[in-house]
Amino acid sequence: MKEKLLEMRKAFYKALEEVLTPAELDELRIYYLGKSGALKEILKQMGGLRKEDRPVMGELANELRDSMGEAMASKLKEFERMLLEKKIEEEKIDITLPGEKISMGRVHPTTKTIRELIDVFVRMGFSLEDGPEVESVYNNFDALNSPKDHPSRGLSDTFYFDASRVLRTHTSPVQIRTMKKMQPPIRMISVGRCFRNDEIDATHSPMFYQMEGLVVDEGISMADLKGTLEEFVRQLFGEETRSLFRPHNFPFTEPSAEVDITCFKCHGEGCRFCSGTGYIEILGCGMVHPSVLEECGIDSEKYTGFAFGMGLDRITMMRYEIDDIRYLYENDKRFLDQFRR
Ligand code: DAH
Repeated sequence: MKEKLLEMRKAFYKALEEVLTPAELDELRIYYLGKSGALKEILKQMGGLRKEDRPVMGELANELRDSMGEAMASKLKEFERMLLEKKIEEEKIDITLPGEKISMGRVHPTTKTIRELIDVFVRMGFSLEDGPEVESVYNNFDALNSPKDHPSRGLSDTFYFDASRVLRTHTSPVQIRTMKKMQPPIRMISVGRCFRNDEIDATHSPMFYQMEGLVVDEGISMADLKGTLEEFVRQLFGEETRSLFRPHNFPFTEPSAEVDITCFKCHGEGCRFCSGTGYIEILGCGMVHPSVLEECGIDSEKYTGFAFGMGLDRITMMRYEIDDIRYLYENDKRFLDQFRR
């Protein structure tokens, strides 16, 4: 019996060495130490031993059971350690690898212009108003005193949705919306996209940006208009920039004017940027026509006002010396990356 026990121990340790997984280890345990395992089988023969030999065999069997159990427990520990090591190895982060490069966008030059303009006018006490890009014919034309047969109303100039709705052709309808919403004193600006049925070329885009301004109060005069716009020109283009008011005609203002400023490039000398004139046109303006005030429910006997509107693409192009409006809409990163300021 002793031989059998020792043989079993030998076989067990050999098998233990070959065990590769915890599941196999379990099988091994059942095979040797289980209820009807190898050890139990051998012990069944205990009855055939001499009485005095039995305790010795019993002790040997116990010893064997304990040492085999311990050997399996340490094997299990080894498995657990290996598993942990494998996990750590797999989850290791190589902190020496270079990080992923995040490329930062830049503020679009037109947006820079818009932000600066808003700053200038908000500092002068103007509020910022908003209006929709899809506008009524009434707000875009009628309420602005535009004659029914004005060429700008034609299909070749304006995008129509139907007989009563257009893509706004200027930001001036926001004047109407503001005057219908509030009574004087009014000091507002509005910035946004406008649309005209123009062919695309270096100076035209069917979609472009405008800024509108409107002041209505008691005693507002042409002097206020000039003072305000001259101050704006100085703040945006520099102290030495001079402005020139030329008479013009708009349906919604009377009198009306266009404002030119000294060329940013030649400062009035005359160059190819200003076609040799020394001046560049930047906006339209005038005293709000009394019929426009009345249409919006404002007493034109008591109140007067001035208004102005300017093309922001144009102003952006001047400030950054961009010679083709298309660059502003092509989203070419090589172009946009140049504007770091
Ligand atoms: N709405 C005009 C345009 O798009 C610009 C303009 C001129 C706006 C005179 C005004 C103004 O407010 O008073 O050409």
